[in-house]
Amino acid sequence: MPLVTTYDELERRAREILPPDIFGYLATGSGVEETLATNDAAWRQFPLRPRILRDVARVDTGTTLLGTPVASPVHVAPTGYQTLAHASGEAGVAKGTADAGSLYVLSTRATASLDEVAAVAGPWWLQVYVLRDRDLSARIVERAAACGARALVLTADTPYVAAKARAANVPVGGSARFLIPELVARDDEGTWQNPSVTFDDIGWLREVSGGLPVVVKGVLRGDDARSCVEAGASALYVSNHGGRQLDGALATAFALAEVRAAVGEECEVYVDGGIRTGRDVVRALALGANAAFVGRPALWALATSGSDGVRDLLSSLHEEVDEALALCGCRSVAEVTPDLVRYP
Ligand SMILES: Cc1cc2nc3c(=O)[nH]c(=O)nc-3n(C[C@H](O)[C@H](O)[C@H](O)COP(=O)(O)O)c2cc1C
Repeated sequence: MPLVTTYDELERRAREILPPDIFGYLATGSGVEETLATNDAAWRQFPLRPRILRDVARVDTGTTLLGTPVASPVHVAPTGYQTLAHASGEAGVAKGTADAGSLYVLSTRATASLDEVAAVAGPWWLQVYVLRDRDLSARIVERAAACGARALVLTADTPYVAAKARAANVPVGGSARFLIPELVARDDEGTWQNPSVTFDDIGWLREVSGGLPVVVKGVLRGDDARSCVEAGASALYVSNHGGRQLDGALATAFALAEVRAAVGEECEVYVDGGIRTGRDVVRALALGANAAFVGRPALWALATSGSDGVRDLLSSLHEEVDEALALCGCRSVAEVTPDLVRYP
């Protein structure tokens, strides 16, 4: 079944449905949106070099993430305040993702509780902003581990929230008060991002979670990648926050190969930012990723059709990955090698 809805079409439908302020908040990049504009364009700087005559009668898109079996190499990135896009919010995205056999990353800035999400999710990870009130972070992480989170994703590119062009008028606070019910009343500075986070916090998170693997999100440099691994990170997640943090930061497609080269085969590497098609996912695999994640596409799918929309989006991406693998002469994710793309 071919992809019936392109990313542009999905975005157009979401723009029609959502109030303009809400659409603007979800779509916006930071600054003058330079990084936002380069993220998706950068993947096209790596044209595919397909192999021919390889017997691709059978293609398997399945793979594993930190040991968890998943249906394909494309998953859902953490995005805050998902009820802005659709009343079903985080539970809707988590369920749609599970229905498609992918992995869901729940944001610290969720608008649902850990229990609500865990009740409908398949495999899921908790994205962590270490908060100014560290005890609060520790409590959230302990509860997430008890609710079945299989890993923590430490977002490392957000010591402060960058100013965003189109985010005015949407009242999102810094609160994490929805994740655990006893914190409903909290919405103060203690719940904001802690700007003093360092590599040492990788070990701290592992400890307070009772040993969950820690993935560091926001890596764009080889030297930082090495420091993360040496500090105990289990995997690295190349990201510029979808162009919502440092404007002018490198497109992730250009950072990926450097990060992979720095860590070799020591750990898994993931990527997000402007991934819009199954071909982009295959390019990401060729550049060194084990898996790719989508942010805005899932929000637009949620806005237009709730959890079914998210399931259909991911199923379409899975089929596109399947097709792209076959047309590249690969029978599996493992057969994708760096020579499958041409470097600019
Ligand atoms: C509306 C919105 C909210 C986001 N909230 C978070 C968040 O709470 N935590 C986080 O680590 N990243 C957050 N991100 C960044 C995403 O995890 C991801 O890096 C980015 O959306 C990927 O780019 P894409 O939207 O082009 O797929 C957010 C992105 C968007 C668009």
